[in-house]
Amino acid sequence: MSEDRATALARLAREASNCTRCRLAPGRTKVVFGTGDPHAKLMFVGEGPGEQEDLQGLPFVGRSGQLLDRLMQEEIGLERDNCYICNCVKCRPPGNRDPQADEIEACRPYLEAQLELIEPKVVVTLGNFATRALLGTAEPISRLRGRVYGFRSGYVVPTFHPSAALRGNPLVVAQMRADFVRAKELLHASEPPLLSPVPRQVQPGLGTSPTGSRPSPSPSRLL
Ligand code: URA
Repeated sequence: MSEDRATALARLAREASNCTRCRLAPGRTKVVFGTGDPHAKLMFVGEGPGEQEDLQGLPFVGRSGQLLDRLMQEEIGLERDNCYICNCVKCRPPGNRDPQADEIEACRPYLEAQLELIEPKVVVTLGNFATRALLGTAEPISRLRGRVYGFRSGYVVPTFHPSAALRGNPLVVAQMRADFVRAKELLHASEPPLLSPVPRQVQPGLGTSPTGSRPSPSPSRLL
């Protein structure tokens, strides 16, 4: 009999807890694999663990997480246990610096395996790194958000990272709320929505940028 989802995710989390695929491994306290319902229809993908997440081994438990929980409850009517939450990189970048492209690629097989096992209908990507990683584009989140993109057998709804909202711009919070409402509508929709093409950055004289193409499948699949 094949492994059920929860068992497969737990096995992957155990495997990730010993991971040494990239330079983030030596500096971590705990690997932050992901949390929530293995059968969730809604998944959130963030950037990478911060200080609190690194200490507790859970995603989005600091200030950004408190805002994420609030918007999830107020706009979608769900608690974090009803969704699945994870990050592009599972180990904390030192000093909360941005994750680097090779670190995101080294960690990608874990994210791909989570997507494949959970099969969410809607993935809300939080910020530039998650959105670019899933949509395979170099466009900024400010240009990508506000639309729905086809992704695997479901949809990606990009929005700002909660840390951007915590910088105090009320427009960012309002736009995040609108994106969460869009995610809720998609969860309940019986008709397929109008999808947007993923915009590609065009470099003068080169046509579509090489970074605009979907990254090639990881050489080391985990499933
Ligand atoms: N920011 C993220 O992108 N992920 C977390 O888990 C916490 C903060």
